[in-house]
Amino acid sequence: MAQFQPRVFSGVQPTGYLHLGNYLGAITKFVALQETHDCIYCVVDLHAITVPQKPAELKASIREVTAAFLAAGIDAKKHIVFNQSQVAEHAELAWVLNCVARLGWLNRMTQFKEKAGRDRENVSIGLYDYPILMAADILVYRATHVPVGEDQKQHLELARDIAQKFNLDFGEEISVRGHGEGFFPLPEPLIQGPATRVMSLRDGTKKMSKSDPSDYSRINLSDDADTIAQKIRKAKTDPEPLPSEIEGLAKRPEAENLVGIFAALERSSKAEVLQAYGGVNFSTFKSALIDLTVAKLTPIGKAMAELTQDQAYIDAILGDGAARARVLAQNTMHAVKDILGFVR
Ligand code: TRP
Repeated sequence: MAQFQPRVFSGVQPTGYLHLGNYLGAITKFVALQETHDCIYCVVDLHAITVPQKPAELKASIREVTAAFLAAGIDAKKHIVFNQSQVAEHAELAWVLNCVARLGWLNRMTQFKEKAGRDRENVSIGLYDYPILMAADILVYRATHVPVGEDQKQHLELARDIAQKFNLDFGEEISVRGHGEGFFPLPEPLIQGPATRVMSLRDGTKKMSKSDPSDYSRINLSDDADTIAQKIRKAKTDPEPLPSEIEGLAKRPEAENLVGIFAALERSSKAEVLQAYGGVNFSTFKSALIDLTVAKLTPIGKAMAELTQDQAYIDAILGDGAARARVLAQNTMHAVKDILGFVR
């Protein structure tokens, strides 16, 4: 794989408010990777419409995610920030990959099964095809590394399978055209850190989610200090004090979640947090967690609020990012068309 220039790609869906799970699970990782890689961060609006969206809210969400990227410290000049629908090549490559991937592969996707539930016959075809578009997002930039949450691991494996099948099916054309062993890299997921899965504050076995009916289940990036404090105070815990060792978190999902959040916010590890807070009761630990969360999140919330006031600025960032992304994506599509045998 030495032939591929390292490149990071990831996407965030513009659906509803961003919360602590999005921030710790994705955005902070995006920020860190800027130091070592060329990065492309995409607001995946084409993915958002796989379920019904209100147009006015979709627009606001696209701008909100963009503002969150910028507020958290993503440098849109050095790297690329844009919304997916402005670069038509994502959808174009998705069609090609639809013809590479096998039906049986998609039928195994657990996220589709969860999202479709009992209403399977009535969900959009887009929801089913979602992982193929995701593979296209990554492969249209021939990205090598993809920071994602644990729940996206299966989709990343699918993207690798698709890349590999394309490389094999068209191996002859690919090598004749001087692309060496393979045209697409096999993208690697980057899943690390103490908070790869941030759980609900009301139930440590459920993921923190914007669709949870209780606002007390999550901390939104837009929450003010009082709201954050209230939500953490009310967060579910158990009666025992914190353990001093990681093993002591087993079967204590709420404790594990709060410790994981603390570690991720202060960029340490669960073990280090337990070294400091082992034996302490929850009310004391929660006070420390409130201070830390308020210190880390409220400046971002404020910066986001200011940025979203300046719509023209946000839209200009997206337009500029899209123009730069398009150049890369068009390059890939030209090569793909040649490999497939299209006349252009
Ligand atoms: N499916 C991802 C999620 O819900 C979002 C996404 C879309 C994505 N395209 C991507 C993530 C490409 C990584 C790479 O989190």
